[in-house]
Amino acid sequence: MGFPLQRMRRLRGSETMRRMVRETSLSPNDFVYPLFVVYGRDKCIPVSSMPGVCQLSVDRVVPEARQAQALGIPAVLLFGIPEHKDSRASGAYDEHGVVQEAVRAIKDACPDLLVITDVCLCEYMDHGHCGIVTASGEIDNDATLELLAREALSHARAGADIVAPSDMMDGRVGYLRQALDREGFAGVALMSYAAKYASGFYGPFREAAESAPQFGDRKTYQMDPPNVREALREVQLDIEEGADIVMVKPALAYLDVIARVRQRFDHPLAAYNVSGEYAMIKAAAANGWLDEERIVLETLTAIKRAGADIIITYSALDAARILQGG
Ligand code: PBG
Repeated sequence: MGFPLQRMRRLRGSETMRRMVRETSLSPNDFVYPLFVVYGRDKCIPVSSMPGVCQLSVDRVVPEARQAQALGIPAVLLFGIPEHKDSRASGAYDEHGVVQEAVRAIKDACPDLLVITDVCLCEYMDHGHCGIVTASGEIDNDATLELLAREALSHARAGADIVAPSDMMDGRVGYLRQALDREGFAGVALMSYAAKYASGFYGPFREAAESAPQFGDRKTYQMDPPNVREALREVQLDIEEGADIVMVKPALAYLDVIARVRQRFDHPLAAYNVSGEYAMIKAAAANGWLDEERIVLETLTAIKRAGADIIITYSALDAARILQGG
């Protein structure tokens, strides 16, 4: 051949060989399982754009959390759909709100399972925005922080292990850290949605959480998709303000962002495999166009290979079952 032939295929010849040289491995330890909690009893309302995902009442959320724990998944992430929405998001910091009750019930049933709560106002606001809207229709950053702190504290009092602000207001990580410390919750960890983009991939979630903005969009607070250096600044600021875990969201169209954050920072890094990413796989699989199990594992592996330590995914139970071999 006239050149030294490098036989790359030697290391691909058998499953055992491939297993030995594999660089990335997935485990249920990597997953966080999101759950949507609604008011009422014995409710399991399917989300049409997310096949396999339901809005669950507190009594039905507990067995789902138990299953996650039994499969070796370390944490669930809770979102609440309140009974009433208003312009102050009062359901968000109601001591007996859906999320607060669900945290108590899950911690009671599964004390070792970590409970993470999403801290945001959009599900609780009548206008669907993540912050307080002023008379002129703007999102009031600094006034919103106070409500977010009330929400996070009510989650901490209910027993949340980690609070996860997803609102993208400036300064909220430092503000929440101070509030938690002041109220005796220094042990509650903070996972910040640090680089959260204004993405079309959240469409199905907004059906699940009933949180679509009633006017305008989220582009004045969530990040502009073309930017990556800005993501590094967001992560840097959240770390300076006290974030314990930082997150990139969505995951698949932002694998480069995950990789850049991984290179630059040593904090635990989470990636959110969002609703639209889940829906695309489900839709293609339902049409017989893709092999669902294979695509789920390939997708989650890609997110891990890019550098994520923690993957928040609606496929967590399915993937854990596949990894356990059925
Ligand atoms: C709330 C929030 C959203 C998601 C997580 N927290 C929606 C949004 O910002 O509009 C999206 C999750 C998903 O799509 O799976 N702010």
